[in-house]
Amino acid sequence: MEPVLAPSARSRVIVESHLGGGEHRTLADDVLDGLTRPFKELPPKHFYDARGADLFDQICEQPEYYPTRSERSILATRSAEIVAMTGAAELVELGSGTAAKTRLLLAAMHEAGTLDRYVPIDVTEGMVRASAHALVEEFDGLRVHGIVGDFERHLDRVPPPVAGRPRIVAFLGGTLGNFTPGSRRRFLRSLSALLGEDGYLLLGTDLVKDVATLEAAYDDAAGVTAEFNRNVLHVLNRELDADFVPTSFDHVAFFDRDREWIEMRLRAQRPQRVHVRKLDLQLTFAAGEELRTEISAKFTRERIEGDLAAAGMVLEDRLLDADGLFALNLARKPN
Ligand code: SAH
Ligand code: AVI
Repeated sequence: MEPVLAPSARSRVIVESHLGGGEHRTLADDVLDGLTRPFKELPPKHFYDARGADLFDQICEQPEYYPTRSERSILATRSAEIVAMTGAAELVELGSGTAAKTRLLLAAMHEAGTLDRYVPIDVTEGMVRASAHALVEEFDGLRVHGIVGDFERHLDRVPPPVAGRPRIVAFLGGTLGNFTPGSRRRFLRSLSALLGEDGYLLLGTDLVKDVATLEAAYDDAAGVTAEFNRNVLHVLNRELDADFVPTSFDHVAFFDRDREWIEMRLRAQRPQRVHVRKLDLQLTFAAGEELRTEISAKFTRERIEGDLAAAGMVLEDRLLDADGLFALNLARKPN
């Protein structure tokens, strides 16, 4: 439920939705493309219906899932410094979710007297609307331009940067790691185009570390990540009228040391046939066959510097939490 806003606050919120019928097409294309190959695969964005978004929030509360806590501790201690360095008046955030950590940056901008506008973009409509309405109430004079859309397809809907009003483009939580290596650099190039002359990219990246810590973060004892992983099958059942039995797939998460990424997969417990009625598609899974649902790349300094350079940006600063688990990278276009 959106709160009832006072007229002065209401006039400061715009939320545009760019997700229409096309979304079914995207999911259908991803299923046709990814589930009919010998090695089955789906992109992770389909996890995030309302239930998936809620499960993700629960993951962030699990003791094993350190990235959220680590990134929050960096923002809690260094936001004022980030704002002073960038002079930012505007915050554009991709995959904003509940905007929980973002509030720390907005508060620092408010404190510095520069805060003007917040532009969140996320596929989960309820979260964009709820956070937009909550934030205009929390921050006096803040304008919010929310975009319900796919950040891989709708970045052209982000309002252009305004000269003399520097912006931070934030991509937090380590979500960059969920891109495949090739698409990651292409995506970073499209972010660089949003920065204007004087903008900064603020990029959260998880760090390479011991395998036990990494694997536990993606296989919590309470089984929340397992349920989040299986949620994509619930999404396929609902959206494409498929008949997956989610409980007959096991959650698998492992660190690939060569590629330096976590992989999440769903493993069929027994042979199964699945009918995807809306696509008139029959799928078969052999016992033990796996479907890859996500990669989550972990970054050394060299890896992120290489990716940024390939996208025409330079790393200006890199902030780590006290335990050295997670990094916030501040990048910009070279002068
Ligand atoms: N930034 C938050 C949330 C991270 S979870 C944090 O750091 O905690 C990833 C977020 O990205 C989710 O809110 C999900 O809905 C969104 N998301 C994933 N793929 C997306 C896409 N292709 N386009 C837009 N949003 C996407
Ligand atoms: C959103 N993204 C950065 C999370 C991650 O850690 O890769 C998604 C997630 N998958 C399992 N747990 C959390």
